[in-house]
Amino acid sequence: MPTPIEGFSKLSKEEKIDWLLANYTHNPEAAKNTLIKYWNTDQKLQKLHDEFIENTISNYYLPLGVAPNFLINGKLYAIPMAIEESSVVAAASKAAKFWLSRGGFKTTILGSEKIGQVHFMFYGDAKKLKSFFNTVEHKLHSDAAAITKNMEKRGGGIRNIELRDKTEALDNYYQLHCTFETLDAMGANFINSCLEQFAKTLKNEAQQFDSFDKTEKDIEVVMSILSNYVPNCLVRAEVSCAVDTLTDDKSNATEFAKKMVQAIAIAKAEPYRAVTHNKGIMNGIDSVILATGNDFRAVEAGVHAYASKDGKYTSLTEASIENGIFKFWIEIPLALGTVGGLTSLHPLVELALDILQKPSAQELMQIVAVAGLAQNFAAVRSLVTTGIQEGHMKMHLLNILNQLGATEQEKVALTNHFKKNTATHNAVVEAFENLRKGA
Ligand code: MEV
Repeated sequence: MPTPIEGFSKLSKEEKIDWLLANYTHNPEAAKNTLIKYWNTDQKLQKLHDEFIENTISNYYLPLGVAPNFLINGKLYAIPMAIEESSVVAAASKAAKFWLSRGGFKTTILGSEKIGQVHFMFYGDAKKLKSFFNTVEHKLHSDAAAITKNMEKRGGGIRNIELRDKTEALDNYYQLHCTFETLDAMGANFINSCLEQFAKTLKNEAQQFDSFDKTEKDIEVVMSILSNYVPNCLVRAEVSCAVDTLTDDKSNATEFAKKMVQAIAIAKAEPYRAVTHNKGIMNGIDSVILATGNDFRAVEAGVHAYASKDGKYTSLTEASIENGIFKFWIEIPLALGTVGGLTSLHPLVELALDILQKPSAQELMQIVAVAGLAQNFAAVRSLVTTGIQEGHMKMHLLNILNQLGATEQEKVALTNHFKKNTATHNAVVEAFENLRKGA
């Protein structure tokens, strides 16, 4: 039975590993070999990764793939994707190719506003608080000048600070609801630094505001933090084409288009379906977010909140057929950065941004939205035609064969076999066993 440890973070990497494996694994020697296998032989690179987080013991690899042929606003991209799930990159590539010959993807930035809030309790007269805010608003800006100077030089900075009375939701609760433009930075550090300065100014100035009584002077700041809900940091991506060009066989095109629209209508109407539908979108989005060193948890949280913005969780994509034109689109909030954070620190992130031709944050928003839309198009297209398993199992085949310990020769033979046969887990195991038996 392991016992708690004091001062774990102070131990060396080696000591941490030895303690961990001795206390929590059945075969410490084998476990250590596994950890070491994933260390980079380039010690400088390994140290860089060790220092990204705390208590690092090894590296956790995800495959980095690429989906070529994305035509976005007339420009061709190959999109890097970091993801463990088979068939996602293939689906993206397929959708990219499909839309390449139909005019490609069109995107628009609908907003780039980031949000942060100072949450505080005020025990007193709300009218007095409002007049206090009007008096100190300029000081909130000027006290933060040292933090905002560089961002302002580049055209960004604090856009607005608003006092919000939230007492209907929670007794005595008010907030400074602040909006920012952080340009090519995701902006978390910038925003949080501004907010913490606003909180200080708010507290200090309240102490000196003559109209406040003693209780009112004691504004209780609870916390100051950016919001990952960014409904006005929004991008739209769209594809469209004549219905009769949607399928190779024109006689199926109208039925296919209708089924696509119905599938989206179901995801609009039914939260159980909407969650899975949006999960498919996030397959595309998260993998580009990860490859470009952005924060997928922040994006996930914000996107799902946006999917519920009208009070019910619903589809993030929409589809229509009007005047013989099939249209498919997404509007999605994405707070991304192409400078700061991991972008110049992680060599593969730097490379991914290079492959994307060094996009601005707004360009990256457009590329990511397209990856989400493409992924959803590919998934829903499979769902309403062949079903998802046919394509998925073909891609998953190698994982099953690797699990079974198939040799390279066996993999070639079985991949060929399943070009003509339906691949289910059992069918693959059976075919593998037959091959070994020489049947
Ligand atoms: C699997 O990762 C994603 C899908 O389930 C998405 C969908 O159902 O639309 C195929």
